[in-house]
Amino acid sequence: MLTASQIIEKYIEFFEKRGHTRISNSPLIPQNDPTTLFTSSGMQPLVPFFLGEEHPQGKKLVNVQNCFRAQDIDEVGDNRHTTFFRMLGNWSLGDYFKKEQINWYWEFLTKAIGLSPEKLYVSVFEGYKNIPRDNESEEIWTEILKKEGFSPKEKIYFYGADKNWWSRAGLPEAMPKGEPGGPDSEVFYDFGTVHDKKFGEECNPNCQCGRFLEIGNSVFMEYQKTEDGFKPLPNKNVDFGGGLERLLAAIENQADIFKTSLFSPIVSEIEKTTGKSYKENVKAIRIIVDHLIASVFISGSGVTPSNKEQGYVLRRLLRRAIRYGKQLGATEIFTAKIASAIIDNYSDSDPQIIDSKKTIMELFTEEEKKFNQVIQEGLKVSKDIISNLTPIEPEKYSKLMQDPDKSELFRNIYRGKNTNLIKEIDLPKSAISGATISGPQAFDLYQSSGFPIEMVIELAQDQRLLVDIESFEKKLKKHQEQSRIGGAKKFQGGLADHSDKTVMGHTATHLLHQALRDVLGDKVFQTGSNITSERIRFDFSYDRKLTDEEILEVEEIVNEKIEQNLSVHFEIMTLSKAKEIGAIGLFDEKYENDVKIYFVGDYSKEFCGGPHVEFTGKLKRFKIIKQENIGHGQRRIYASVGAL
Ligand code: ALA
Repeated sequence: MLTASQIIEKYIEFFEKRGHTRISNSPLIPQNDPTTLFTSSGMQPLVPFFLGEEHPQGKKLVNVQNCFRAQDIDEVGDNRHTTFFRMLGNWSLGDYFKKEQINWYWEFLTKAIGLSPEKLYVSVFEGYKNIPRDNESEEIWTEILKKEGFSPKEKIYFYGADKNWWSRAGLPEAMPKGEPGGPDSEVFYDFGTVHDKKFGEECNPNCQCGRFLEIGNSVFMEYQKTEDGFKPLPNKNVDFGGGLERLLAAIENQADIFKTSLFSPIVSEIEKTTGKSYKENVKAIRIIVDHLIASVFISGSGVTPSNKEQGYVLRRLLRRAIRYGKQLGATEIFTAKIASAIIDNYSDSDPQIIDSKKTIMELFTEEEKKFNQVIQEGLKVSKDIISNLTPIEPEKYSKLMQDPDKSELFRNIYRGKNTNLIKEIDLPKSAISGATISGPQAFDLYQSSGFPIEMVIELAQDQRLLVDIESFEKKLKKHQEQSRIGGAKKFQGGLADHSDKTVMGHTATHLLHQALRDVLGDKVFQTGSNITSERIRFDFSYDRKLTDEEILEVEEIVNEKIEQNLSVHFEIMTLSKAKEIGAIGLFDEKYENDVKIYFVGDYSKEFCGGPHVEFTGKLKRFKIIKQENIGHGQRRIYASVGAL
């Protein structure tokens, strides 16, 4: 049976044979892109090319992209969701369209990797408001399915924009102006498991019961959002993305992706470390597996736990994994051990992660130690809460505990819904409210001390108490909605931000890079950067702390170049020409064709996609805020630019 790495090889080879050029896996933390914290799909680094820019490597591209989707964090725990995954992607930038894409993908699935056509189902866009139904995809699928001897009616399902429209922002109305999007067609694998009516009367490919798994999505990117609707993009593009982990599940005919060959060694390591079985602790172990894999890759990209941006997400993932580990009875520091198993497991397809193994293990250990202290504080808070409540009498409580679904029981009893039971055990209303940890108290434990509701329920059970779950959930929902609105604002604000502060930050980064080389020598080269409207972050190779004099000198050079009001322009040239003229920057060595080089006066020449200010005078003033050592012979500088 094919392994995850073999699937990658087959996929790349299949599309290379069909004229595609392999492009590199972009960093998980987008470079010079303040709009999003993480790369969450293969198309993300390609957005300018969907909008009409020419890609230096041509019109047909393929790759495998490491992706992280923070928004899926609460979905993890079922049979198929993960926050970190690898996306197989192929793209047409105004070259082929629906016919080639659908036929090739079908051929790849059924011939190249041998999935049984019997098991496959497809979905097509049924239309939404002014955007028409995708009849063309229906016709293409109909022809393919008929040839295979199926009745197309049984295999093709139609859905609206909530399922068969794709853009980075989701639904058409959620898209910010300028964002590309389009209808899509998905393929699903049928595991043939029995439908669970909890998820609806009838099963269908988009049902959440676990029978069907979406394994690939062909997006036909042909629209761009405008002020009052949509306009066609300059090209009709294809953006295909398929989750590698899900494809592996289909190949292994394993409805639970955590039981596939990719994840099972990690699951076993957790079972060994905690002494608890996967079978009896499915949700907790799935969360630990996913969150620690994501944490390995995020910290492998140079992020450390903090209270801001990517660092905050990393902290949240690690702490959630630790909490679930504790719930399973892990007493020792365990995350580093699991990280080691994860790194070994991924080393064949992501060999660079081995270089960071030691750093990642140290970082996990340190965060786990820190969090252990927070947990101790949380336990103190819960003790205070508990001391003000009156436990239910033991006999009555054990009768209540006969109900296997504790959270449902707690929910109903507080609302007085299971009256028969209350009567049977003679439990007055006052006894219930006197024994209940309130929603706000549970939420406080969740928010400040990181206790999941399951942990609060367990605490309550130990003390013969109840929890007002409904009010906890209401508070949580409100909180999540607020963060979602915040997140959406960041996304939109970021996209609109191209004109001012971040653009100034880009130009200042070029000046900083060159000034560092002037002061410290050619050993300095950029290893990463991240620019927001608040600050510039610049990483570079250098093996010691900069002295105060050196910092001052760098600042002075940059400010001198700002005062000279140098003009900024770009030229397109071949990579070898760019190297010949001494251009610097994060070159992608695989870019064999033309590259874009930005010039700041004749002071700096750097490989960059832009955009930049026209004259450096616009930057006003540059200041270095602090420097840090980020390990591996690299340093990080934070700086700000603009009227200070
Ligand atoms: N960009 C598309 C997705 O992420 C393929 O589903």
